[in-house]
Amino acid sequence: MCYKNWANDTMNRILNKLESTALQIGASFPHATKDGIYTFEGSQFWTNGFWPGILWMAYQNTKDEKFANIAKEIENKMDEVLDSFELLDHDMGFMWMLSAGANYMINGNKESRLRLLKASSHLAGRFNPKGQFIRAWEWEKGQMIIDCAMNLPLLYWATDELDDPRFAHIAHSHLETVLKYSIRPDSSVNHILEFDPQSGEFLHAVAGQGAAADSAWSRGTSWAVYGLALAYRHFKEEEILIKLKNVSNFFIANLAEDNVAHWDFRVERNSNTPRDTSATACAACGLLELSEYLPKAEADMYRKKAYLMLKSLTDNYSNLENNNMQSLLNGATGAYTYNENINVGLIYADYFYMEGISRLCGNKDIFWYGHI
Ligand code: GLY
Repeated sequence: MCYKNWANDTMNRILNKLESTALQIGASFPHATKDGIYTFEGSQFWTNGFWPGILWMAYQNTKDEKFANIAKEIENKMDEVLDSFELLDHDMGFMWMLSAGANYMINGNKESRLRLLKASSHLAGRFNPKGQFIRAWEWEKGQMIIDCAMNLPLLYWATDELDDPRFAHIAHSHLETVLKYSIRPDSSVNHILEFDPQSGEFLHAVAGQGAAADSAWSRGTSWAVYGLALAYRHFKEEEILIKLKNVSNFFIANLAEDNVAHWDFRVERNSNTPRDTSATACAACGLLELSEYLPKAEADMYRKKAYLMLKSLTDNYSNLENNNMQSLLNGATGAYTYNENINVGLIYADYFYMEGISRLCGNKDIFWYGHI
């Protein structure tokens, strides 16, 4: 099945909307909307790559330098974080693959390449060899989180760019830990894992942004879907593909009737339960990536599901012609358990939504790939 005509129409609607959003928010660090208007973060925030990623996709489509110039300005502003060392955590893939990575991929910019080299070295330096995991944050020495599966493309990039397998070795060791401990036997996903940082012994799962340690946070599930799909792209290993399909099937089976996820798959779900359009959009991109590696009949099934998810986001959760709302999507949930950003626009929901539409338009130059 080809969804190209629909995707092209939707992309034109997105690009129209971005004309006004880009004018309104410029070279800033948007995160979540309040009453439809973006609020902003400091230069160290983990979501800061998504707006430049959106702008570079707009540039891919239009060749309008206005979008590229704003994205470059944001990339420059993030240098103070990259050079600070102490403000960095594991989220360097989110931050630099979609900013410097996109700029290097599109323009071969040498400064962007250096930023990627610094970021990938920092990320590799967070590896705990005893526990075989990449440490998540500064305040906890023994924790890894499923979100990091989406930061590993930085390490695949470094291995390819430098022809140096060390970076991919580290990513692979971390992935083995993901497959062993993050993905549960029923193919739901733990958000946070705790290890003894000294001995490396696995201790237990910790509740994070899901409802409980044993719940099924939908965005964490989507990080696993897309993260494993990108890992399979690099390593082409059967075990990754099997777990990727299992987690994808878990995600699909738990979607609401309108093909959009609730914020956690293990809370009571009724008409008041918040959705998470960011998880839905990210998982759709993962399903489209997965479909690249399967025989036609199976690939068509995952592609169709991704299309239905993106179509529902467009028909039921988008603001494309609503000038009072700056984000592309509404209905995203940042951190329900902390009572933060519930049922709002989130910049990463917008990024993955646009990437999903871009994939359906036939774009093969996906920034997570790092290379054309
Ligand atoms: N911790 C990143 C997220 O909210 O998914």
